[in-house]
Amino acid sequence: MRRLVVALLFVTGLLALPAMAGDLGPVIPKATGVAHIEGNLFMRINHMKLMVHDRDMTVHEGDRQVKYSLKACVECHAVNGHDAQPVAVTSEKHFCRVCHDYAAVKIDCFECHNSKPQISSSALLKPEMPDSTEIAAYLKEATQ
Ligand code: HEC
Ligand code: HEC
Ligand code: HEC
Repeated sequence: MRRLVVALLFVTGLLALPAMAGDLGPVIPKATGVAHIEGNLFMRINHMKLMVHDRDMTVHEGDRQVKYSLKACVECHAVNGHDAQPVAVTSEKHFCRVCHDYAAVKIDCFECHNSKPQISSSALLKPEMPDSTEIAAYLKEATQ
């Protein structure tokens, strides 16, 4: 019952008001990239149907160029942790968990799917750190 009430609140957008005040309701993290042409409200209500539909297209028909790719969701909706790296679904800051924890929704998608952007794209954000022994050797030589 609580789940139904919460779902209805999402649908009517009532949760947006307390969310803005920052006290009640989930505060949905901002995304990057172009917003959905369908609008935020539509996405709140229909995201699960869109993904399940596209998953069936991929799994049953072999079509990998789907519009509502779960891989794409976690890229635009990545949330960074304290280390400035995208968090996995184990963190309560994860985009998908913010609402789901609030609405007591459990999904199994991330048992198979990656919950954060692939290394290849997040690696671009990570500066290459030189080996500390190399620095120590350099400093030793420089001060001699
Ligand atoms: C190209 C980037 C991009 C992709 C891919 C993407 N989104 Fe979004 N999404 C956005 C942006 C931008 C917004 C607008 C809200 C914002 O600024 O955070 C948004 C909004 C939403 C909202 C409404 C949030 C709110 O505040 O009401 C939901 C729900 C959502 N997306 C789910 C998904 C799901 C599920 C997927 C994968 C099927 C997905 N998105 C893929 C960029 C993206
Ligand atoms: C704006 C809040 C919000 C965000 C963000 C959000 N969800 Fe949801 N999601 C919900 C709500 C609310 C339900 C439950 C709807 C219902 O019970 O009718 C739900 C249900 C689902 C379901 C169906 C679960 C079931 O048992 O029926 C799936 C799958 C799902 N979400 C996937 C995702 C994924 C993947 C993400 C992140 C990419 C995400 N959602 C982000 C609010 C959200
Ligand atoms: C048992 C493992 C498993 C689980 C659990 C699972 N998937 Fe998948 N999913 C797959 C595999 C395998 C593919 C095919 C990937 C490929 O061939 O590119 C796929 C493909 C997809 C695709 C299309 C490809 C893409 O880029 O995203 C979507 C969308 C998708 N799944 C959504 C979901 C959602 C939503 C859930 C949770 C309700 C879920 N999956 C749970 C294994 C799983």
